[in-house]
Amino acid sequence: MKILILTGSPRKGGNTDALAKAFVEGAKDRHRVKIISVNDCKVNPCIGCNTCFSRENNDCFQNDGMREIYAELAKADMLVVASPVYFYGISAQLKCIIDRLHTPKRNAFGIKSLALLLVAASSKPSVFDAIIKQYELILEYFDLEDKGRVLTGGVNAKGDIADREELNQAYLLGKSV
Ligand SMILES: Cc1cc2nc3c(=O)[nH]c(=O)nc-3n(C[C@H](O)[C@H](O)[C@H](O)COP(=O)(O)O)c2cc1C
Repeated sequence: MKILILTGSPRKGGNTDALAKAFVEGAKDRHRVKIISVNDCKVNPCIGCNTCFSRENNDCFQNDGMREIYAELAKADMLVVASPVYFYGISAQLKCIIDRLHTPKRNAFGIKSLALLLVAASSKPSVFDAIIKQYELILEYFDLEDKGRVLTGGVNAKGDIADREELNQAYLLGKSV
């Protein structure tokens, strides 16, 4: 498979990046895996003009980092979303990317499955509830297979995740897909 991982933390080398890397380690022997970080591509928010629905190639009028992400999504079989929890949601940077999928361009995508990697400072399992609900609704809406989730609470400072079992869970998830 071609697996695209979208990582949503603006903090380079933080807990989200470490979790995504662990997944890549597990998956890379059998799949072609590419990570795109929100740090690599500046993506503006969707402004809801809907002009992409009538424009040639359904291109967005905004010529920004989404151009590359659309091209990678069009090649991907599986998408992995990795994010820190920011106020019970995914990061705003990642949400901008997701919102820009409100376009007929997505009809050309061949993505069949999703996985979710999350980190949060809180140790309460409920810190992930809102994102999980959104994830499940998206799975249902697009009829996608859920390949799995790794939820890592109790990590705040950069490097907190280093000795956590969830890194192994992400590695095994990568192996299993
Ligand atoms: C803007 C912002 C909002 C946050 N909101 C939450 C939150 O609602 N719940 C929580 O447990 N942690 C919250 N955090 C903490 C991060 O989820 C946590 O530090 C995480 O490990 C950061 O991941 P990173 O190292 O990949 O950047 C927030 C951090 C930031 C910067």
